Amino acid sequence: MKNLLIATLLLGATTATQADEALVKKGEYLARAGDCVACHTAKGGQPFAGGLPMETPIGTVYSTNITPHASGIGQYSFADFDRAVRKGIAKDGSTLYPAMPYPSYARVSDDDMQALYAYFMQGVEPVAQPNKPTDIPWPLSMRWPLSIWRGLFAPEVKAWQAPAGADPVVSRGAYLVEGLGHCGACHTPRALTMQEKALSPADGEQFLAGSAPLEGWIAKNLRGDHKDGLGSWSEAQLVQFLKTGRSDRSAVFGGMSDVVEHSMQHLSDADLTAIARYLKTLPPSDPNDTPHVYDKQVAEALWQGDDSKPGASVYIDNCAACHRTDGHGYTQVFPALAGNPVVQTADATSLIHVVLAGGTVPATRTAPSNFTMPAFGWRLSDQEVADVVNFIRSSWGNQGRAVSAAEVKHLR
Ligand code: HEC
Ligand code: HEC
Ligand code: HEC
Repeated sequence: MKNLLIATLLLGATTATQADEALVKKGEYLARAGDCVACHTAKGGQPFAGGLPMETPIGTVYSTNITPHASGIGQYSFADFDRAVRKGIAKDGSTLYPAMPYPSYARVSDDDMQALYAYFMQGVEPVAQPNKPTDIPWPLSMRWPLSIWRGLFAPEVKAWQAPAGADPVVSRGAYLVEGLGHCGACHTPRALTMQEKALSPADGEQFLAGSAPLEGWIAKNLRGDHKDGLGSWSEAQLVQFLKTGRSDRSAVFGGMSDVVEHSMQHLSDADLTAIARYLKTLPPSDPNDTPHVYDKQVAEALWQGDDSKPGASVYIDNCAACHRTDGHGYTQVFPALAGNPVVQTADATSLIHVVLAGGTVPATRTAPSNFTMPAFGWRLSDQEVADVVNFIRSSWGNQGRAVSAAEVKHLR
């Protein structure tokens, strides 16, 4: 009898730990989907120990220590943790700066919050590291106006519900994009008062329509526009891009490289497919949007040695070896510039930036090779950069507004 009791207790204990382990594992996966590590880890610092400076229009905010140490969130109950992540309220009752994307995390389900909490309490190494105060000057440093902001702009936490009759794959994609993935935190334009202009497609065409420059990059349009959005991308290309940082025709750079490296490449194929399928349901924001039509005039002129078009000679000398005279690049290695939405965005910040600074496609689990685009900032003058940028924006059927040497100078 006694033995049986012990056996039952032991059995109970093992199933409990197994259940715990599964919950911690699930939480780890969700933390990746939410890319918590990206903001909560300082350069060269311990994972999740905080201290990363983040520029905001009113001053610098530092991310906090979210490891289970007393100097982090070790004393947080589930309710405290939940209130911080989904409502933006710290344990002491003050409101968090919206640099923490809680307006998106408000969409996370109760079950997923439990898993995240289990992971942060049991799966993350505790690190002793005190939080840094913000560099925001008084009176803006007073946190009370933030609670007014929160009241106005943060949505109420409501358990996620797929619309009736919705495709389950698309709904899963919506849940990940609008919620943990917080894609809109970068890809949706913000109002003067800093809230995202839309948190879901129900709020209108600004949702994921592309950001203003942020640390020298723009997070471009992810809607169905062909010219500067994802209209010409297939679902399979999107999945491949999120998983490997590259697709047949493009490669990740700038602020998106970290998102692929720390977050997207770790998601399951099913979740990446859901994200891609959902993004492909977003209609173009420009009602006059039309597919790209390749124009072979420029390629033919270059083949015949005619480089009279402004910027053509800079392109031949510096770019054509990799991106080719026909603008098609090399599949999976050097991105195509013809029909590439990055080349045609109204705001050319990212485009000028990549020419000045170059970039390296990050190595990912399933695509371990890196390819590098050299920096041209030291080699080309402001005028030459403007010329070559305008050349690629107006060749092979591309249509992008012209940029000036002054714009290039400003971005250096
Ligand atoms: C885009 C950057 C960013 C991402 C992504 C992010 N955070 Fe934060 N988080 C912050 C910043 C900045 C603060 C501090 C805000 C402040 O001091 O007002 C913060 C604060 C917090 C707090 C409050 C801590 C405290 O000391 O009270 C918790 C808890 C938290 N984050 C958890 C998470 C979790 C869990 C994730 C992933 C699901 C996550 N964060 C993702 C930027 C981010
Ligand atoms: C920290 C900011 C940030 C977040 C969060 C973010 N992105 Fe991006 N994203 C960018 C930037 C900057 C670019 C432009 C660089 C580029 O095109 O590679 C970009 C580019 C992209 C592109 C490439 C478009 C093209 O034409 O090359 C896709 C696709 C994309 N993001 C999807 C997503 C999805 C899906 C999410 C959410 C799961 C997301 N992004 C979250 C900053 C971000
Ligand atoms: C040695 C080969 C090489 C040369 C030369 C080169 N590039 Fe690139 N280019 C690349 C690679 C590799 C990437 C992807 C970089 C990344 O993802 O960080 C890239 C990316 C780009 C992109 C972003 C497109 C996208 O979808 O990711 C643009 C625009 C671009 N190059 C334009 C130029 C221009 C203009 C020149 C000449 C001034 C040039 N490149 C010269 C290899 C090259």
